[in-house]
Amino acid sequence: MPRHADNERHWQVIAQRYELEPGPINLENGYFGRMSRWVQARYLEHVALINRSNSLYVRQQFEQGEQVELRRQLAGLIDVAPEAVAFTRNATEALQSLIRNYNGLRPGDQVLISDLEYDTVKGAMRWLANARGVEVIELSHTHPASFDSLVQTYRDAFVQYPRLKLMALTHVTHRTGLVMPVEAIAKAARAHDVDVILDGAHALGQIEFNLAQLGIQFAGFNLHKWIGAPLTLGFLYIAPERLADIDPDMGEFHYPANDVRARTSYSTPNFAALMTLPLVFEEHHALGGSLAKGARVKYLRDLWVGQVRGLPGIEVLTPDDPRLYCGITAFKFTGRDQQVMADRLLKDYGLFTTTRVGAAFGTCIRVTPGLVTSAADIQVLVNAITELSTLSHT
Ligand SMILES: Cc1ncc(COP(=O)(O)O)c(C=O)c1O
Repeated sequence: MPRHADNERHWQVIAQRYELEPGPINLENGYFGRMSRWVQARYLEHVALINRSNSLYVRQQFEQGEQVELRRQLAGLIDVAPEAVAFTRNATEALQSLIRNYNGLRPGDQVLISDLEYDTVKGAMRWLANARGVEVIELSHTHPASFDSLVQTYRDAFVQYPRLKLMALTHVTHRTGLVMPVEAIAKAARAHDVDVILDGAHALGQIEFNLAQLGIQFAGFNLHKWIGAPLTLGFLYIAPERLADIDPDMGEFHYPANDVRARTSYSTPNFAALMTLPLVFEEHHALGGSLAKGARVKYLRDLWVGQVRGLPGIEVLTPDDPRLYCGITAFKFTGRDQQVMADRLLKDYGLFTTTRVGAAFGTCIRVTPGLVTSAADIQVLVNAITELSTLSHT
């Protein structure tokens, strides 16, 4: 465990960086992360500057160099070449651009998704059925999942569906926080000539990874979950040697055809948010980057899961194999209506969580600690689950 993950004092100091509205304990930090006070202040300054100086600033300064530096810093965040990344407004836009513009599909080919993918990714992959005349194969992962079962499910699919050309893969599923064995799955996919589009929305900033090592050529991310940027920023990644496999977006002409930025829609971006990125990246690194952030939320996750997994009436859905989980974990009160129980967590214990649906295990309650979550907050959750589990059990 990195040095400070279990150091409450250290994280208390970090928590001071963030302004919090009084209210329930927020254990739904998976939706989007907070900006620190400094990032928020810088962002608001930039909003004011853009509003005052309008296109003069944007045309004469932002477009004359600043945006080149931002792209360089963005690429540095995941250790790739600037030529491999293009800003989008969020992960969805990045992933839809990749799916929409992937040009390797012919009528009769097959594409693959699983029940753990994000719904907009599922939707975009299903859209290919009519748009490209392909068959969409939808896998359900077995539950509980193990490293080997997850990889084997894909190996079996590659054999069973020999016309597979493209698949979506979610690095960290938003349903249970399960971390996919991306490297092993991508390797198996490559052996069957199946291209992988990686949804990294929840991985970036929480998990250390290297796309080349994972064997990933196409990926989409956002910067508002675990990096700490203002909302409205995401990006896509295309390995430069695979650029020709993704078409320019709907006749996009602002950039030359050999520029990755032509692979997504061109539009007026949130300049103020973009201009805040250098401070965001500086802060992300100062906090210890994904290694430290990821270790802290994983520590908090272990704290509650370790105390409730064995309780009668409680089923923790996310496995304990350290390769397969991060800070996000989902559980169920056996035999109960999960929404009613999530409502009770909020009403009776002041704990804000969220329910998730749509996979083999049915509806579950997802718990996502954040950088301001303390061990004491987690103890409130443990006490609540313990009390409610008795009700649930009797
Ligand atoms: C796994 C996953 N993919 C994609 C997205 C979409 O991200 P964005 O809101 O940046 O479009 C989310 C958002 O929660 C997600 O959890």
